[in-house]
Amino acid sequence: MPHWSRESWRSKRAAHQPAYASEADLSRTGEELSSLPPLVTSWEVEALKAQLAEAAQGKRFLLQGGDCAEQFDECTAGAITNKLKILLQMSLVLVQGSHRPVIRVGRFAGQYAKPRSEEFETREATTLPSYRGDLVNRTGFTGVERAPDPQLLLRAYERSALTLNFIRALVKGGFADLHHPEYWDLDFAQHSPLAAEYHSLARRVVEALQFMENIAGVRTGEMEWVDFFTSHEGLHLIYEEAQTRRAPGGENWYNLSTHFPWIGMRTADPDGAHVEYFRGIANPIGVKVGPGMTGNLLTQLLERLHPHDEPGRLTLIYRFGHKKISECLPRLIEAVRSAGKSVLWCCDPMHGNTRYTADGTKTRHFDEILSELEQAFAIHGQCGSYLGGVHFELTGDDVTECLGGARNLGDSDLKRAYRSEVDPRLNYEQALEMALLIARMMGRTNAAKNDAVV
Ligand code: PEP
Ligand code: CO
Repeated sequence: MPHWSRESWRSKRAAHQPAYASEADLSRTGEELSSLPPLVTSWEVEALKAQLAEAAQGKRFLLQGGDCAEQFDECTAGAITNKLKILLQMSLVLVQGSHRPVIRVGRFAGQYAKPRSEEFETREATTLPSYRGDLVNRTGFTGVERAPDPQLLLRAYERSALTLNFIRALVKGGFADLHHPEYWDLDFAQHSPLAAEYHSLARRVVEALQFMENIAGVRTGEMEWVDFFTSHEGLHLIYEEAQTRRAPGGENWYNLSTHFPWIGMRTADPDGAHVEYFRGIANPIGVKVGPGMTGNLLTQLLERLHPHDEPGRLTLIYRFGHKKISECLPRLIEAVRSAGKSVLWCCDPMHGNTRYTADGTKTRHFDEILSELEQAFAIHGQCGSYLGGVHFELTGDDVTECLGGARNLGDSDLKRAYRSEVDPRLNYEQALEMALLIARMMGRTNAAKNDAVV
């Protein structure tokens, strides 16, 4: 392998990087970011890697979710708490269904940069750079707001630190205590058609916990609170490089802006700058793969990113769409098997199922998302591999961005509360319903395995 350094990606083609007016300003900001403290530690990163290694073997299940793009304006106590609440509620449901510990990873505290299919956006006679996430520019349609601004790298780092600080304080203070799932109830969810099913399940978990504690005669230490890890797409390489540090006294380099960065589908070129950067960091990493990923390309990615087959190192987050998964997934499972590598398979049923309504609103339908997931479980069952996680775009808020679900949202409902600037998210109820349905699927898989053993 050629020599790697924090900067070696700079000699490769870096797709989806903004064009800044002043390279000097950008590099000054990069230096400032490098001098600021890291957001996470290498011990946490290694702890997550160990958990992901167990998920790859079927001993844990990964739940990864959050906004498509975080927004600076939504860095509020309410929005952050709601995101934690929905992830906690979903994970409780998944623990019940899978009979395994669930690893909770948020798409937060750094999910501020977006790849865009169009470099420019035109409205009437005006053409301006596309919005690329709050890390890069602003949503408003003026030249000033759309100009990439290096100062936003610092603002994004600060917002990420504020988010993480609040999450850590909530978790440490007992908010995530499994004995008290009532802390996670959302006011507007009381009237949800799913409330009763969720509450009876939560009661069963608390009872099971108390039962175990009565038997053991101690309060269950490790289970009193649950970990939260962070993840984001490692897209903006100046930002990622600036937070890349060597662990004290160690040889390894870590990206300490997040525990679990991933390479987006549009930047997963084996010869590109993103793969070059990611190959040298010791974090567990994800790679998004879609219908264009061939067995041959995947083999090259495995050679570069996963040469030592280190447990927990690589998660393949696939997003084919409900119509293509049956054709695409088996060939990638086969490619990984022939390469003799082990990976964690994670299904992102959102990004392959994006569509537009008649008036041009970007949306996704609950039933198509569910269909991709159902097929994913079935295909892994047939291929003898294991679906170890799911990846969702969701929010704890009461938005109307995706169609269908328990309240059967239709095209005309989308106008009511469409708040995403980029991709449509499952709202609170749709996300919880999805978790209940996945738990059922996993329950069936467990039952089938037990029958086979008997
Ligand atoms: C995303 O996760 O928001 C995204 C851009 O996904 P993908 O790289 O899979 O298209
Ligand atoms: Co998205």
